[in-house]
Amino acid sequence: MAGEKIIAVTGATGAQGGGVVRAILADKAGGFKARAITRKPDSDKAKALAAQGVEVVAADIDDEKSLEKAFAGAYGVYAVTNFWEHFSGEKEFVQASNIAQACKAAGAQHVVWSTFEDTRKWVPLSDNRMPTLQGKYKVAHFDAKAEADEVFKKLGVPTTFLLTTFYWENFIYFGMGPKKGPDGKYAMTYPMGSAKLAGIAAEDIGKAAYAIFKKGKDYIGKNVGISGEQLTIDQMAATCAKVFGFPVAYNKVTAAQFRGFGFPGADDIGNMFQIYEEFEKPFAGARSVEATRALVPGLTSFEAWLTANKSRIPLE
Ligand SMILES: NC(=O)c1ccc[n+]([C@@H]2O[C@H](COP(=O)([O-])OP(=O)(O)OC[C@H]3O[C@@H](n4cnc5c(N)ncnc54)[C@H](OP(=O)(O)O)[C@@H]3O)[C@@H](O)[C@H]2O)c1
Repeated sequence: MAGEKIIAVTGATGAQGGGVVRAILADKAGGFKARAITRKPDSDKAKALAAQGVEVVAADIDDEKSLEKAFAGAYGVYAVTNFWEHFSGEKEFVQASNIAQACKAAGAQHVVWSTFEDTRKWVPLSDNRMPTLQGKYKVAHFDAKAEADEVFKKLGVPTTFLLTTFYWENFIYFGMGPKKGPDGKYAMTYPMGSAKLAGIAAEDIGKAAYAIFKKGKDYIGKNVGISGEQLTIDQMAATCAKVFGFPVAYNKVTAAQFRGFGFPGADDIGNMFQIYEEFEKPFAGARSVEATRALVPGLTSFEAWLTANKSRIPLE
């Protein structure tokens, strides 16, 4: 439709950006249309978007000039970086800065930047309760994003800072769901003590972001924290038991034990869980479920998400 505002969506072939694109597609009369940004317009995921009528444009967040071209004429930009592709805070900061610069150059009127708090405001580098990572971070995939907030601000890019949180899709892609132990019993291994984990269905991040674009100017310059439900691991295990139909225990470990699991990123994720546990109040408190529901009326509960996704969760 003529006159629709274009939202250029980075990460459009992924979980967050894909959710933004689907939210736009689902609202035909909303006055917006999505432009999917990808490095690989020939990939199956990009082709699937094109088949739904989405404009697909090639760009790389490592290449600021490619982004400038891809954002040309767009009203808005959904900005997300993928730390887990390279595990480098410095690289993530550069990628986010490239997006910010390109938003500025292209004259974007509203940017929703998917970010996190700087955990060093809670645990300074000198605090040895958790290791310092990559020489300058406590949680690299949080702190680098937070550093990039300042680039969006300094450049005067009209930005909403979307404070996301743990997606339940980690059960599918990051092995965070129930697992069968050597005793044949299922357990969820987390270093969360009795703190509540602020979780969300990844799809609802996209819906929240789209709602923010629709609400527009009032949200510029604001931090918006979102979550779908905040549950202890005991409560999540009980929901898993109900949905899967077998007992699921909480295998409570310490953050140090979790870091010691040694898989790529275990140190960063161990530190992240330690922040979730020790700073539950400010972290979960900044992500009100009620405020999120005001943006996403059909907000997904953990049980509803699990019921819909249980066949996708590897249990072994
Ligand atoms: N897992 C969680 O619980 C969670 C929660 C909150 C926030 N996060 C954050 O979410 C981010 C990842 O987002 P996601 O889960 O939506 O990712 P995802 O599903 O793994 O997809 C990654 C997306 O990033 C795009 N991408 C990666 N490198 C790119 C580059 N150089 N240029 C252009 N596009 C690039 C990919 O596009 P193409 O391959 O098509 O180019 C793809 O669309 C991470 O930074 C993580 O910290 C994760």
